[in-house]
Amino acid sequence: MKSESSRMRDNFPVNGMDAVVFAVGNAKQAAHYYSSAFGMKLVAYRGPETGSRDEVSYVLTSGGARFELRGAVRAGTGVSRHVAEHGDGVIDLAIDVPDVEAAYSYAISQGAKGLAEPYTVEDEHGKVVMAAIATYGETRHTLVDRSNYSGPYLPGFVAAEPIVAAPAVKNGRFFQAVDHCVGNVELGKMDEWVEFYKRVMGFTNMAEFVGDDIATEYSALMSKVVADGTRKVKFPLNEPAVSRKKSQIDEYLEFYGGPGVQHVALATNDILSAVDHMRAAGVEFLDTPDSYYDDPELRARIGEVRAPIEELKKRKILVDRDEDGYLLQIFTKPVQDRPTVFFELIERHGSLGFGKGNFKALFEAIEREQDRRGNL
Ligand SMILES: [Fe+2]
Repeated sequence: MKSESSRMRDNFPVNGMDAVVFAVGNAKQAAHYYSSAFGMKLVAYRGPETGSRDEVSYVLTSGGARFELRGAVRAGTGVSRHVAEHGDGVIDLAIDVPDVEAAYSYAISQGAKGLAEPYTVEDEHGKVVMAAIATYGETRHTLVDRSNYSGPYLPGFVAAEPIVAAPAVKNGRFFQAVDHCVGNVELGKMDEWVEFYKRVMGFTNMAEFVGDDIATEYSALMSKVVADGTRKVKFPLNEPAVSRKKSQIDEYLEFYGGPGVQHVALATNDILSAVDHMRAAGVEFLDTPDSYYDDPELRARIGEVRAPIEELKKRKILVDRDEDGYLLQIFTKPVQDRPTVFFELIERHGSLGFGKGNFKALFEAIEREQDRRGNL
């Protein structure tokens, strides 16, 4: 693990993630899934009824985590083409910045491809400034300043009522924020994208995982993490590594039709009850063999954590510890028909890591699923 000293001057200050925007085949049903299974709350909507003739959007939140689910009302729209090509997936990792014009012009001066120059949208709730730059594949970063806006999401959206009752847990939600968003890129491209985030956004290397760290007997990948100076926005980037069988990253690239977002990690304060509720609602999680929990080395390495290991074992929750503390994590299976995007639930207790000690067990679990799909 390497880290770099903080920058002298921040040319690209960020406040955090603004939203994760998905293009989906059926936004109405996806909104129900994220409400009933992920305990998220529908807060805003736009569609034909509000003057959006070609697309619908459902906006859901859980604490500081915000998803926008976009679907096409008719053929021939950008969303319908995207879904036809890639399946359901993430089209935009929108970032909350204090000054859109400054961030955009700095990004362009550092070689970023502009997709939308800074523009302002407004309604009776105030105004929002936005711009957009391209990142890997067909993914974009919209830069958003909503500090002068009090509406439910953006101009053009109306407030919406929750689809289902809030989950019966503390605060009525499972998640507090988006913890990190991971991109899969082609073989040999990881370092290019790491350099992109360093150059364009002034991000720094937070961690890297190469070679034996994350190889299994069959397949492998390499991963590096870039983050802003405050560590609020964290983007790990994966590329496949040459190995005996097909890397999970290759499977993603084949079925997504190129680079894209692999998983979104959601920060939770109570991973045990979140997993219980989500599993009861039909969310599928990756399996972890009992041998993981029975390994005396693991028990020695993790020491005392907030829940008895038998409770973690029952739920297949993984645990990792580093010099700063520990974390609990679990991964869903892909959440759409294609074996592409999935989610991670992460409960941090001091650790700033990504579960390095679990990579081997995790990747072996992914490979068992790949094998079942005939893609290993
Ligand atoms: Fe992750």
